[in-house]
Amino acid sequence: MKAEADQNLIVYFGGQYVPLREARVGILTHALHYGTGVFEGLRAYWDEPAQELFVMRPVEHYERWKQNCGILRIEVPASPEELCGITVELMRRNGFRTNVYVRPIAYKSAERIGVSTDDQDAWAVIALPYGDYLHAEKGLHAGVSSWRRIEDNAIPARAKICGAYVNSALASDEARHAGFDEAIFLTESGHVAEGATCNIFMVRKGKLITPPITDNVLEGITRDSIMELAQGELGLQVLERPIDRSELYVCDELFLTGTAVGIAPVVRVDHRPVKDGAIGAIVRQLQQSYFDATRGHLRAYRRWLLPVYRAQQGPAKDAVRLAETSVA
Ligand SMILES: Cc1ncc(COP(=O)(O)O)c(C=O)c1O
Repeated sequence: MKAEADQNLIVYFGGQYVPLREARVGILTHALHYGTGVFEGLRAYWDEPAQELFVMRPVEHYERWKQNCGILRIEVPASPEELCGITVELMRRNGFRTNVYVRPIAYKSAERIGVSTDDQDAWAVIALPYGDYLHAEKGLHAGVSSWRRIEDNAIPARAKICGAYVNSALASDEARHAGFDEAIFLTESGHVAEGATCNIFMVRKGKLITPPITDNVLEGITRDSIMELAQGELGLQVLERPIDRSELYVCDELFLTGTAVGIAPVVRVDHRPVKDGAIGAIVRQLQQSYFDATRGHLRAYRRWLLPVYRAQQGPAKDAVRLAETSVA
């Protein structure tokens, strides 16, 4: 998705709903120079049959955002429920009837020179129509990056800290120039961590395996959803354990997960086919389950979804309560 965003889009900035063209920050803003911001990424999925837009696990996303802001001692003075209300209001004001990506960002906003931080924080929420991040219909070719994943005691990978994404940008840029679709990071100790903007799973001997959250990965909400679907819908055993690089070359299936990426099968890794080089049966089933769950088609997972238009008559904040009562 490389197209520039429409400047008439309504965004939440400085405590108000304003057109994107009015949401501007100064050139000396601390976060611009030092990367001192924390962002989040949510998706809302349009379901044509129900004529409804569902925000996926918004409370979990906003809880994670607020916790991770705490790592940088940035205060977001709104509860996850209030943030859900703002999200619904943004969708309605923009009249979205398509898949949407939501990008909350909180940052150190003082306009001066000097890396030390103070209590001047600002935050915003942007929602925009968004299609596929990676074109994975035929499966991806991933390459192990020569860049190592950042260590928790340097910049914590579990938080979406703006400056930390230089690590992802370097790996992504290297991968694309080398002809790969996506990069795979190893940790300093040589274990598989994750993709540049996504978590990673492999299937070996019928088990679904993903690196533990202590291996410098972002604690992905899609990762969590996939683990639940794999166990609940497919009856698979799921293991969180370190993965060696060479296991990528001998596994039965490999795929990436993330809010932007979705569930993206990897069919080649470092110029070697994964198994027979075709998209595997387990990842196909998980893609289908995830699609159904995010469109409200699976009753057991409707608790993940916040409907945007069902609460049309009431204020946006009521949508959160309605999600708990009328969707289930
Ligand atoms: C580095 C990284 N890993 C994993 C993920 C996946 O996390 P989630 O499923 O919560 O979107 C993301 C992105 O969103 C990411 O940036």
